[in-house]
Amino acid sequence: MANVLIVEDSDDLLFSLTRTVTKEGYSVLSASSAINALKIINKELIDLVFLDIGLPDRDGLSLIGELKSQCPDIDIVMLTGRNDARSAVQALKAGAVDYILKPFELIEFKKILHGCMRNRTADKKALLEKGKDPMEYIVGESKAIAMLRNDILTAGSVNAPVLVTGETGTGKELVAKAIHQLSKGAGGIFVKLDCGALAANVIESELFGYEKGAFTDAVKQKKGLVEMANGGTLFLDEIGNLPLSLQPVLLRLIEESTFRRVGGLRDINVKLRIIAATNVHLEEEVASGQFREDLYYRLNVINIKIPPLCERGDDLLFLARYFLVYFNGEMKRGIKGFTPESEKLLLLHNWPGNIRELKNCIERAVIYCRDEWLAPVHLSVPRPSTSSSQELLPLLTLKDMELKYISNVLQRVGNNKSKAARILNISRNTLKKKLADQ
Ligand SMILES: Nc1ncnc2c1ncn2[C@@H]1O[C@H](COP(=O)(O)OP(=O)(O)OP(=O)(O)O)[C@@H](O)[C@H]1O
Ligand SMILES: [Mg+2]
Repeated sequence: MANVLIVEDSDDLLFSLTRTVTKEGYSVLSASSAINALKIINKELIDLVFLDIGLPDRDGLSLIGELKSQCPDIDIVMLTGRNDARSAVQALKAGAVDYILKPFELIEFKKILHGCMRNRTADKKALLEKGKDPMEYIVGESKAIAMLRNDILTAGSVNAPVLVTGETGTGKELVAKAIHQLSKGAGGIFVKLDCGALAANVIESELFGYEKGAFTDAVKQKKGLVEMANGGTLFLDEIGNLPLSLQPVLLRLIEESTFRRVGGLRDINVKLRIIAATNVHLEEEVASGQFREDLYYRLNVINIKIPPLCERGDDLLFLARYFLVYFNGEMKRGIKGFTPESEKLLLLHNWPGNIRELKNCIERAVIYCRDEWLAPVHLSVPRPSTSSSQELLPLLTLKDMELKYISNVLQRVGNNKSKAARILNISRNTLKKKLADQ
């Protein structure tokens, strides 16, 4: 639910505005002085502020910049005096989104309240559809992706931890970044730590920083990623690999928003969003004692499951064309598209590496293709057993395609070989030979 803060020193007005906002379905906090408003902003995540210009302790106008610097994502509406149009203009210049001239009717207030909330949702939707970096768009038109977009919007509107799960290359990091952009912490930065690649003590000092003298090499104090992510998002990739010894520390960070630097005695408070990702089944890790159950439940408040590419129907070709346009642009090429045969090939391959594999495949194809159209000969994938991408295999051999086609037909006729042979227009013996050769 969106949070509204009303800063107003007249008790009557404060009371009636608070009641109206609650009735309209938003949660509301109130302050009757600048100092209290700042305290609330420091503690709570606020979406919209109605700010009185004449506060007892400070001029409301001068507060706009300060509120915006604490929470860049906040919207401020100024409440100004009837004959004070000049202040209204100044408020807009200082970063307010709107103003209301006092005295006003509640109906006018409600109109502005709903208008601001609508704009916030529209802005977020637009952000989701049009990231700054074209490679950060979440491309796809399948139902699975529409549902994923909805999940992302929901996650962006609350501040609870999110666990993103999905096979390798399905877009977990992309989704985490989208949630960050939509979150109230979007003013802060997105900080990533890959828990899979580092030793426990390295993860600990990377995450939490250290005090001078905490260990031999700690010649001076260092801030960790948690402090860098303050006000923004901490993305913990491959969370299943987080060593057991660090799990209680992370739990404390989530539950109490506080931590200590390595070797430090002082608790440091932070306000950040935590998004974790994994391509393993964390429930199994919990069952085998590799992952703390309490941490699992704490991280899994919102769970976003990203569907593998094979469950996204037509998105496959949609994505392939999108990547072709992208790499055409990057490499200044004018490849016109895919031949029908190459599209069939793309559809037949099962893409264990999901979108990343598809993207790499199209990038390679654009590098090698000297023709106007991308053909099967340009499509290749790394041999699965090797970790290096040196050894490439054609996406699918003719024989693979034939076999897939045969098994498809066999399936349709309930495995009746004579019927299948008739449909395929070959003899039953030839069919048997082809099946035996596989
Ligand atoms: N729906 C999508 N639209 C466009 N690009 C996408 C989409 N999903 C993923 N990508 C691209 O595919 C690549 C892999 O995505 P990402 O790194 O987010 O996957 P991941 O799930 O984190 O993978 P891994 O498990 O290997 O870490 C990135 O280059 C990303 O931009
Ligand atoms: Mg990743």
